Amino acid sequence: MRKVAVGIAVACGVAAAAAAAVVVHRRMKKAGKWVKAMEMVKDFEEKCATPLSRLRQVSDAMIVEMQAGLASEGGSKLKMLISYVDSLPTGKEKGLFYALDLGGTNFRVLRLVLGGKGRGIINQQFVEVSIPTSLMTGSSSDELFDFIVAKLAKFVAQEGPDFKPSPCRQRELGFTFSFPVVQTSIASGTLLKWTKGFSINETVGRDVVEELTKAMERHGLDMRVSAMVNDAVGTLAGGRYANNDVVAAVILGTGSNAAYVERADAILKWHGPLPRSGEMVSCSSLIPISEHSIASTSFLWKNRVANGISLKVINMEWGNFKSAHLPLSEYDLELDAESLNPGDQIFEKVMSGMYLGEIVRRVLSWMAKEAAFFGDTVPPKLKVPFILGTPAISAMHQDTSPDLKVVASHIKDIFEITNTSLKIRRVIVQICSIVATRGARLSAAGILSILRNMGCDTITEGEERRTAIAMDGGLYEHYTEYRKCLVNCLNELLGKEVFESVVLELSNDGSGIGAAILAASHSKYIGCYD
Ligand code: BGC
Repeated sequence: MRKVAVGIAVACGVAAAAAAAVVVHRRMKKAGKWVKAMEMVKDFEEKCATPLSRLRQVSDAMIVEMQAGLASEGGSKLKMLISYVDSLPTGKEKGLFYALDLGGTNFRVLRLVLGGKGRGIINQQFVEVSIPTSLMTGSSSDELFDFIVAKLAKFVAQEGPDFKPSPCRQRELGFTFSFPVVQTSIASGTLLKWTKGFSINETVGRDVVEELTKAMERHGLDMRVSAMVNDAVGTLAGGRYANNDVVAAVILGTGSNAAYVERADAILKWHGPLPRSGEMVSCSSLIPISEHSIASTSFLWKNRVANGISLKVINMEWGNFKSAHLPLSEYDLELDAESLNPGDQIFEKVMSGMYLGEIVRRVLSWMAKEAAFFGDTVPPKLKVPFILGTPAISAMHQDTSPDLKVVASHIKDIFEITNTSLKIRRVIVQICSIVATRGARLSAAGILSILRNMGCDTITEGEERRTAIAMDGGLYEHYTEYRKCLVNCLNELLGKEVFESVVLELSNDGSGIGAAILAASHSKYIGCYD
């Protein structure tokens, strides 16, 4: 009997020891995985680092590309497209105008009634429509434009009698088309390529105004396109309508881009007639007196009169900027390689709204795979591209609750991961912060490049200059931490004194409003509004 008892006791002891060993082993394994996960985060953070020295290198490289893009067609990854906006709005525009703002998964139809000198916008109405994904890729050009025009026609059909154009004119439309387009006039332009998840091959190489006009004819819609602009150019025009100090515009939304006012004689690739002089001013009416060079970033602008200088609005297409100085991680490279446009839009892919959430998802997905960050198996939803949108990372990044419950609920709702510990949620916030910080600081470096190119990055003693940049896009508008980080970084880059002369002005729906105003300033019917 005693022997049996001893045997059982020994057996129990062995089993307990074995169980304890399993627990210890599991803990060690878990600790090892956690260490591995933390190493991955640290490595990612280092690869995304944007110290000021690096941002200055990025800015130098961008200025070189800007100059190359202005010198010759195809001379640079930065297309530096010349817009045909030769005169920015003056505030005297008057009458009924429409805009169609197409640039992402949603488009807007907008109607403005402009009151003329000193009266501004006296009536404004819009509708927003989302585009079915099936029409963004794989469909035909006609199908996409038919869908858009049907909504535009419906909007017009529902208008009351107050919004009928004068008998002497057709309805006029400003078309904001936020993709790279080479223009040959204010109301025509050939699509170079799609970006931001659109991919309809047959539209590439076609005049998109013609595509839109043909669809309007198919729908019997009596309307003409008076101006076609990129959203960055539209935002610049809309910004200038509201504030005369606006000399540039930046879009931080689904995609990203910038436009600014450039001296026509600095655009070496421009062989057409120079636009009317002195109608647009750059850097608050200052006139450049010497050529820009990188060595002397200050390209001096003097005299407060804009006599004799012709200026043009340049659509930079800065989303396509690429440089060895950009801080890129393996996750960015993987995202690019698997995107619809590999090798293109690299700047955009590290800082715009379409991609920030996707970068975070890729990091988490690798951590799940390599370091069992969410347990022994990789949660299936974590493998779905673009399932994590930037609004979600903005909400998680800005979660101020002590137990990070916003993070917990997003991770549960989006990835169906229910059991995240506080420790894990903190790491998720950290990853969101790394991605957003890099994007915001790179945007600041882009803005610095424009200011340097225009000579607005220095200020002489006693000079009272204001340089305003119109900002549009949901990322800038809604992601507060991103916006704050961008502004702080610009302050660091410019120094307090110059920074105080620069105003970043949120221009809500500036691109649509700007296009309608440009339709007014480029109207065929000037003089027949009343
Ligand atoms: C397009 C630009 C556009 C920007 C912001 C980019 O993907 O190439 O033309 O201005 O997105 O919408």
